[in-house]
Amino acid sequence: MGGKKKIGLIGGGQIGGNLALLSVQKQLGDVVLYDIPAADGLVKGKALDINQLAAVDGYDCRVTGTTDWKDVAGSDVVIITAGMPRKPGMTREDLLEVNLKIMKDVAANIKAHCPNAFVINVANPLDAMVYALFKITGFRKNQVVGMAGVLDTARFKFFVAEALNVSMRDIEALVLGGHGDDMVPLLRHSTVGGVPLTQMLPKEKLDAIVDRTRKGGGELVALYKTGSAYFGPAASAIAMAESFVFDRKRVLPGAAFLEGQYGINGFFMGVPLQIGAGGVEKIIELELDAAEKAEMQKSFTSVKKTVDEVKL
Ligand code: NAI
Ligand code: 2OP
Repeated sequence: MGGKKKIGLIGGGQIGGNLALLSVQKQLGDVVLYDIPAADGLVKGKALDINQLAAVDGYDCRVTGTTDWKDVAGSDVVIITAGMPRKPGMTREDLLEVNLKIMKDVAANIKAHCPNAFVINVANPLDAMVYALFKITGFRKNQVVGMAGVLDTARFKFFVAEALNVSMRDIEALVLGGHGDDMVPLLRHSTVGGVPLTQMLPKEKLDAIVDRTRKGGGELVALYKTGSAYFGPAASAIAMAESFVFDRKRVLPGAAFLEGQYGINGFFMGVPLQIGAGGVEKIIELELDAAEKAEMQKSFTSVKKTVDEVKL
């Protein structure tokens, strides 16, 4: 079947607005930007504003702002950013109660209106929200994914590029695990122009980069004060959506439903995966050494603690 894809964006706040803009600029498809009735003007305003931008640049995709799930129906891709962001002093886990209520509403509507969509969750606490989404919708495991690793890896790459004064394009890196302060940047698997990163920077510098990456979300919360990062998160979710829409089969880190991989069973956590027209087409199992395995396990312990509080 030809024709444009339909991109459903649930939540028209800071990340949602940027997702709409990037979807149009990357010509992923026609966008429906959904939010609650109280945000009717916000989503309609953002849609109109972006459509006028599209006229400047000559993009053929359109954005519709709506508070009616019927307009979202039949979306090929759905990206969820409905939920509260962190404020200074809060952890992502502090958002569980309020965002779980929102996820229950959103997931039930996605199940009813977009049964065949590839669904990317962005709302925090990430690994627990994507778990709730999966359980409530009953969707296939390749249909549901969480976005965090692309963003965490991008932060890591930026800090490395700054430290070495090299192009970000030449950095290959991977941050796995849960989207929390014990996420797992894999130094041994990171390279700069093919050269192992561990040869390029001394241990103290690498430790500082790992620490800053782990606290990367909090650094932005402290700067913004009223919410959390939105440009980087939007670009990261779009990279995943783009790989699906154009069947790019990119290998990206993301939170996937694990069934024994990395010693984890029945939970979502960040691992390298392949995204194509079939959604999450493959989960890649890296060979980890004992220290890396221990870090993954520590991160999983935090993920599980939050997921155990998810009452559906
Ligand atoms: P925001 O507050 O700007 O936007 C959230 C929007 O969700 C609001 O417009 C709100 O009206 C809407 N909303 C609330 N209940 C809804 C419902 N039932 N249905 C539809 N929409 C609803 O927040 P922002 O900055 O866009 O962040 C969104 C989420 O993304 C937060 O939970 C934040 O913690 C998370 N986040 C995740 C990241 C990641 O790497 N996974 C990175 C950055 C933020
Ligand atoms: C971030 O990492 C807070 O999860 C959000 O920016």
